[in-house]
Amino acid sequence: MEESHELVFFVNGRKIVEKNVDPELNLLTYLRRKLGLTGTKLGCGEGGCGSCTVMVSKYSPLEKKILHIAINACLAPLCSLHHAAVTTVEGIGSTTTRIHPVQERIAKSHGSQCGFCTPGIVMSVYTLLRNNPDPTMEEIEDTLQGNLCRCTGYRAILEGLSTFAKPLNCCGQSGKENGCCKGQFGANHLGPSNCCGQNGTENGCCKGQFGVNPPGMSPRLFEPSEFKPLDPTQEPIFPPELLLLQESPRDTLIFKGERVTWIQPTTLNKLLVLKGRYPDARLVVGNTEVGIEMRMKNMLYPIILAPAHIPEMNFSCFTDTGIMFGAACNLTYIGSVLKQAVNQLPSYKTEVFKAVLEQLRWFAGQQVRNVAAVGGNIMTASPISDLNPVFMASGCLLTLSSEGGNRVVQMDGDFFTGYRKTVVKPQEVLISIEIPYTKKGEYLSAYKQAQRRDDDIAIVNCGMRVAFKEGTDIVEELGLSYGGMAPTTVFAKKTCELLLGKKWNKALLQEACSLLSGELTLSPSAPGGMVQFRRTLTLSFFFKFYLSVLQKLGQDFQNDIRVESIPPDYVSATELFHKDPPSAVQLFQEVPPDQCPMDVVGQPLPHLSSLKQATGEALYCDDLPCFEKELYLALVTSTEAHAKISSIDTSEALKVPGVTHFLTAKDVPGSNQTGQILMDETVFADGVVTCVGHVIGAIVADTEIHAHTAAKAVKITYEKLQPIITIQDAVAHNSFYMPPRKIENGNIDLGFAESDDIIEGEMYIGGQEHFYLETQCTVAIPRGEDGEMELFVSTQSPSQIQTLVAHALGVPANRIVVRVKRIGGGFGGKETRSWLLSTVVAVAAHKTKRPVRCSLNRDEDMLVTGGRNPFLGRYKVGFQKNGKVVALDLKLYCNAGNSLDISSAVMNRALFHMDNAYKIPNARVISYICKTNLTSNTAFRGFGAPQAMLIAECWMNDIVAKCGLPSEQVQRLNLYQEGDITYTNQKLEAVNIIKCWDECLENSSFHSRRKAVDDYNRQHCWKKRGLAIIPTKFGISFNAIFLNQAGALVHIYTDGSVLLTHGGVEMGQGLHTKMVQVASKALGIPVSRIHISETSTNTVPNTSATAASVGSDLNGMAILNACQTLLERLQPFKLANPKGTWEQWISAAYMERVSLSAAGFYRTPDLNYDWDKNEGRAYNYYSYGVACSEVEIDCLTGDHKNLRTDIVMDVGNSLNPAVDIGQVEGGFMQGLGYFTLEELRYSPEGVLYTRGPGAYKIPSAGDIPMQLNVSLLRESPNRKAIYSSKAVGEPPLFLAASIFFAIKDAIVAARATSGKTGPLRLNSPATPERIRNACIDNLTEMCPPADPGTFTPWNIEV
Ligand SMILES: Cc1cc2nc3c(=O)[nH]c(=O)nc-3n(C[C@H](O)[C@H](O)[C@H](O)COP(=O)(O)OP(=O)(O)OC[C@H]3O[C@@H](n4cnc5c(N)ncnc54)[C@H](O)[C@@H]3O)c2cc1C
Ligand code: FES
Ligand code: FES
Repeated sequence: MEESHELVFFVNGRKIVEKNVDPELNLLTYLRRKLGLTGTKLGCGEGGCGSCTVMVSKYSPLEKKILHIAINACLAPLCSLHHAAVTTVEGIGSTTTRIHPVQERIAKSHGSQCGFCTPGIVMSVYTLLRNNPDPTMEEIEDTLQGNLCRCTGYRAILEGLSTFAKPLNCCGQSGKENGCCKGQFGANHLGPSNCCGQNGTENGCCKGQFGVNPPGMSPRLFEPSEFKPLDPTQEPIFPPELLLLQESPRDTLIFKGERVTWIQPTTLNKLLVLKGRYPDARLVVGNTEVGIEMRMKNMLYPIILAPAHIPEMNFSCFTDTGIMFGAACNLTYIGSVLKQAVNQLPSYKTEVFKAVLEQLRWFAGQQVRNVAAVGGNIMTASPISDLNPVFMASGCLLTLSSEGGNRVVQMDGDFFTGYRKTVVKPQEVLISIEIPYTKKGEYLSAYKQAQRRDDDIAIVNCGMRVAFKEGTDIVEELGLSYGGMAPTTVFAKKTCELLLGKKWNKALLQEACSLLSGELTLSPSAPGGMVQFRRTLTLSFFFKFYLSVLQKLGQDFQNDIRVESIPPDYVSATELFHKDPPSAVQLFQEVPPDQCPMDVVGQPLPHLSSLKQATGEALYCDDLPCFEKELYLALVTSTEAHAKISSIDTSEALKVPGVTHFLTAKDVPGSNQTGQILMDETVFADGVVTCVGHVIGAIVADTEIHAHTAAKAVKITYEKLQPIITIQDAVAHNSFYMPPRKIENGNIDLGFAESDDIIEGEMYIGGQEHFYLETQCTVAIPRGEDGEMELFVSTQSPSQIQTLVAHALGVPANRIVVRVKRIGGGFGGKETRSWLLSTVVAVAAHKTKRPVRCSLNRDEDMLVTGGRNPFLGRYKVGFQKNGKVVALDLKLYCNAGNSLDISSAVMNRALFHMDNAYKIPNARVISYICKTNLTSNTAFRGFGAPQAMLIAECWMNDIVAKCGLPSEQVQRLNLYQEGDITYTNQKLEAVNIIKCWDECLENSSFHSRRKAVDDYNRQHCWKKRGLAIIPTKFGISFNAIFLNQAGALVHIYTDGSVLLTHGGVEMGQGLHTKMVQVASKALGIPVSRIHISETSTNTVPNTSATAASVGSDLNGMAILNACQTLLERLQPFKLANPKGTWEQWISAAYMERVSLSAAGFYRTPDLNYDWDKNEGRAYNYYSYGVACSEVEIDCLTGDHKNLRTDIVMDVGNSLNPAVDIGQVEGGFMQGLGYFTLEELRYSPEGVLYTRGPGAYKIPSAGDIPMQLNVSLLRESPNRKAIYSSKAVGEPPLFLAASIFFAIKDAIVAARATSGKTGPLRLNSPATPERIRNACIDNLTEMCPPADPGTFTPWNIEV
C-alpha cells in the first residue's frame, strides 16, 4: 500500500510537518512542550475539565463543509490531526495585538479568577461563535458542559458570555405581573432581554435588581456597552492549502513510536486486512476510551488503527426501517441528524431518536461528543454506556465486517458476553448501526441518573420500550435494558417475557416491580457500591416509564383505548428535566459620589491579570519554558495503607529509555524527617508506609512519558500491617494525635436540667478534594554555588517551602529562593501539602545537579495530597419549648489521616465555630483528632468551621422539628445579638447577623415562598420542594497568633513606576488586584503605575501562608505601612512643589538621595486567646452572612435542582465589590459541591477510588441556582481592617448549607407523603443516593439494604 509517515497540520495558521510522530504523544503535550503554546492547560488529562480545549477545523467529506469543533487536546492523539487546523487561545487574540471579544468579555465581566480554566472556556465559546455567531443562552450553557471552573461559581462567566446571546423576548408575556422575565423580584436573566424595549425605565425591568435598587446600591459590575462587537469577518480563515489537500488522494499514514504504531488506512478493505492481521489492534476514532485506558489504566495497545476517514464508516442515510449511521460518526453529528429527523418525521416514528437525544443531552461534554464515535461507545461495551441500553431496548441492527464478509446482528440481550466483551469477533469491525423507527402504539424512553447532571457517567441508566397490540393496551413487545446493574448492559429478559400479553395498568406495574427487583439483583459488595440506590432506581425508572406510557396512550388513543388516568399529583414524575435560563442580581454599595476618581478602592475593578488569563499569556508554574538539561520526575507511591516495605525492584524501570535515577530516602542529603507542627512525616517513606499514596521513591528521566512509564514499572512488595481507616476504627483503637481538647462554658448540667426538652443525635460529613484546576507543581533549578537552589512552586506558602526544602537539603534557608507568580487555585490545598512534592523535586535537582520539574497528574494529586477532614459530630442539645437553646454537649471527631499536618489547627477552628451564629449559654465541646492510614488531610477553605457549623445546623434542625415551630423563627430567636459573649468568651461587636438575616428574608420573599413551597408539595407527589435559610458567622484571624503578621516591600523607580511586593500569593482571589488598589489609594497614584511581579522569599521573608481569609487584611496593612513611610519621605518634596507631579516629586527625592524603597510590616493587635482560661480574643473580628435557598428534588431518582438562592453577605466596605462578589459566589459554589455533590469514596482497605473528574464531581455551570442573587450588606464599615473592609475568602462557603437544608426540607415533605414522620438523619453530602434512600416509599421497601456486618461493602465512610 501507498504509505506516508508525514503528519501535516496547521496550528494558529502556521503549517507544521512532523515526521515520525510518537502515537503516544497527545496534542496538548505537543502544543505546550514543542510549540511553547502554554495557554492551553492541563487540568486532568482525562477529558473531564475542559481546560485543554482547542478548536480543530477540518473539511468534512460527510457534511461537505469545513467544521469547527472544540476538542480536548489532552485526549487527541497528535497523529489524528492530519490535515486539520488547530486554533489555540493564543491564535485568537492577545493583549499585545487584538483581544478577541470572547477574551475581553470573560475578563471584564469578572469571569476569570485564578484563570487556569479560562483559556479552555474561551476556546469552547469561541468555537460556538465560529459556528453560530448568534447563539441562544441555552446553547452557551450547553457549550460549557465540558468546562469546569473551581473559582468563580460560573455566574460571572455566564453573565459575561450572555452578552453574545440572542435576546430573550420575555416582556409582554410572563413578566407583566411581577416585573419582567422571571418575576419574583424582577431578577435579570443572564443575556440581553428585549424586555419592554427600554432597558431601564424607572423600575427598569431589564435592569432588574429588586425592581428599584436600594439607595446607593448598584448592580453594575461591568459595562457591556464598552465591549467590542463580535465581528465574524475578522476570524482567521481555514488554510486554503488544507482545502486543496482534500482533493489529493490519501496515503495510508503510518507512525511508529517506541511502543505503539499508528496506522490510518484509507479504504475499508485495507482496514479489514489490517484487522485480520492484527486482531488485537484497537480502532481509535475519538480516543476518549482508549486514551483513558492508556493514560490512566496503564494499558498498552501496540497497534492502533484509525478508521476515521473511511467513507463506509462515516455516513448516515434513511432506510425503510430507520436511520443508518457509520460507526465512526461522532455523537454531535448523530445528535444533529436525529434532531432533524425528530423535527421532520411524524412523532410516533421517532420515539427511539428522542430517547437517544435525551441520553446525548447528558452524555459527557461537547468536546467529547464532538469526537467520540457511536461505534466506540458500543464496542467499548461499558456497563454504564448511555447509548447501549437504548440500542438494546430498541433492537438496533449492527453491521459487522471482516475480510471474510459482512454480517448483521441485532443488539439484544446476548450481544454483550461479559465485562467489556461482545459477540463481535477480534477480526471484525463494526461498520454501521441502524437506529429504528417506531410504529404507532410503540413507546420508548431512556433514563439516566448520575451524581451530577452535566458531564457525568451514569450510576444507573436504562432504555425501555413497549409495543401494544393494535388498538389495545395489551403488551405485545417489551424491552427493558439497564446499565449499571451488572458487568454488561443487561436485558431484563424474564421480566419482559412474563409481562407479555398483560394490560398496562397498576397490576402490571406491581408485577413489573416485583419481577425487576428479583431479576436485577446486586451483591451487597457489588463494585460501584450504592447497592440499595441502584436497585431502587431500576424500579423508579420503570415507574416513570409506566406513567409516561399511560400518558402517551391516553393522548394518542383517547377515543380507542381506555387507560387508567394519572392522578394530577403524579404528572410531574413523567416530566423530563427542565431548567429555566439562569438569572441573577448582584448588588453592592456604590462609592460616595465625591470619592476622588483616582481612588479605586470600592470600585469593581477587574482582576488585574484577567485579560492575560483569557489570552493564555498569564504564566503558571508548569508554563515555564524548559531549562537546558531539564529532567522530569514521577512519584512512586504506596499501594498499601499500612505495611512494611519488603523489597523494591527497579530493574525494569531503569531499563526504560531516558531514566537517570530512582531516588529514595537514602538520597536525601539533609533530613528525611519533615512536615508541619509535629514534623511527623518523611520526604520518602522509610521502611514503612502509612497510607495508600505515601511517597516511597521517585523516578527521574528525560521526558514525562519516560518518567511515568518507569515509575509504573517499579515493583514493590509489602508485608501488610493492620490499617486504621475510619473515625470509628480510630476511636475503637484509641488512635488519636493528641489528648482531646475541650472548651467549656456556663454550667452544662444545670443547662440540661433547665431545658424543656433534650435531643441527642449525630452527623457525619465526608471529606472534600480541593480540585484546584492547576495541580501541584514544582520546578527546581540548582544554582551550582554554595548549595543555592531556586524553586518555582505552585504554593500558598513560599516561606514554608523554603524552610522545608532547606531542611531536606541540609542547607540554611538563605540558600533557597522560592518564587510564585500566580497559582491556579489553592483553597488550602497548597497551604502545607506543596512541600510534599517540592522537597522531592529539590532532592532530585540536588542529586542530578540539573533542573527538575514535576507537575502532578490529577490522579496523583488527588491520591497524595489529601483534602478536607471528614468529621463526625455527636451532640446532645437542651432547649426550651420556644426553641431557645439552653445547653449543648458536643463531641467532634475528625479524620486527620497519616500525619497531623495542620489538622489540630483545623480542629481548633471547628471548636471555635461549633455555635455557627447561635448563642449557647451552656456549652461543652470536646475534640478528637483521629490518626488513621489515609492520606493526610489538611486545610480547605473554611478550615474545619464548615463541618462544625453544619453540625450546629443539624441540631438546630432537630430542635425545629421537635418544637414544630417555623424554622426561621427558632433560628432567629437564637442568633447572636450586639454585645453578646460567645462560649469562648469573646464579646461580639458590630454584630451584623440579624441585619443580614432580615434583609435576606425580605430579598428572598421568604414567607410567601414558604407558602408557595408548601402548596407545591401538596400538589406534587414525586417532586418536592424545600426552602431553608442559614446564617453564618466566621472568625477572622489565624488561630495560631504568631501567623497574624505580614510584610511588604515597595520600590518606587525614578520614572515614578512602583513595584509592589508583599507576602501574599495570588491564587485567583484577586489579592494582587486589591493590594494594588490599596497602594494606589495610599500613594495617590493611578493603578496603572503599580505592578506586582511575583511573591518570593528573597523579597519579603518569613511570610505566613496566604490563608485564613486574611490575605488582604494583613498584607494590605503592611503595604499601607510601607506606603506611609514613603509618603513621609516624599512630604518635603510635595511641600516644596505643591503643584508638582508624582514624577517630579520622585525625581526630586532621588536627586536628594532619599530612599525610594520601603519595607512595611503589620501584626494584628489584641489577639490573646488563652486556651486554659477560655478567655481573650481569638479573632480580630467576625464576618457575617445569610443565604436562603430553594431546591426541587425528584423523589424517585434522588436528583435535585437548585432553583434559587439569595445571599446577603457582610464584607464591610468592600475593597473591590466585583472581587468580593466573585469570592462569595465561588465560595458558595464550592460549598454547594461540598454539601451536595462531592463524595470521596474509599475501599475498606483505604484505597481512594475517586481520583479524577470522571469519578469525583465538582459543580459544573449547570449546578448554579437558576436564580442567584447576591447582595453585599450596605453601610457596614469594619474598623478593624484595611480601609474598613472585611475578609471574604472563606466565610461564604458555609452559606451553601442552605441548599443542604433545603434538600432536607424537601425530603421531609416526601417522607410525610409516605406517612413517615420523626427525626431524619441526613449525612453530607446530600447526594442522589442519600436523597433517594431517604425518600422512603414502597419502591425503596422492595429493595431493602443487606444487614450490615453480613458482607464487605465496596466502599465505606471514612
Ligand atoms: C470525559 C468523558 C466523559 C464520558 N462520558 C460518557 C457518558 O456520559 N456516557 C457514556 O456512555 N460514555 C461516556 N464516555 C465514554 C466514551 O466517550 C464513549 O464510550 C465514546 O463513545 C467512545 O468513543 P471513541 O470514538 O472515543 O472511542 P475510542 O476510544 O476511539 O475507541 C473505544 C473502543 O472501541 C473500539 N472501536 C471503536 N470503533 C470500533 C469499530 N468501528 N469497530 C470495532 N471496534 C471499535 C476500539 O477498538 C476501542 O476499544 C466518556 C468519556 C470521557 C473521556
Ligand atoms: S486536561 Fe483535558 S479535559 Fe482536563
Ligand atoms: S478561574 Fe476557573 S478554575 Fe480558577
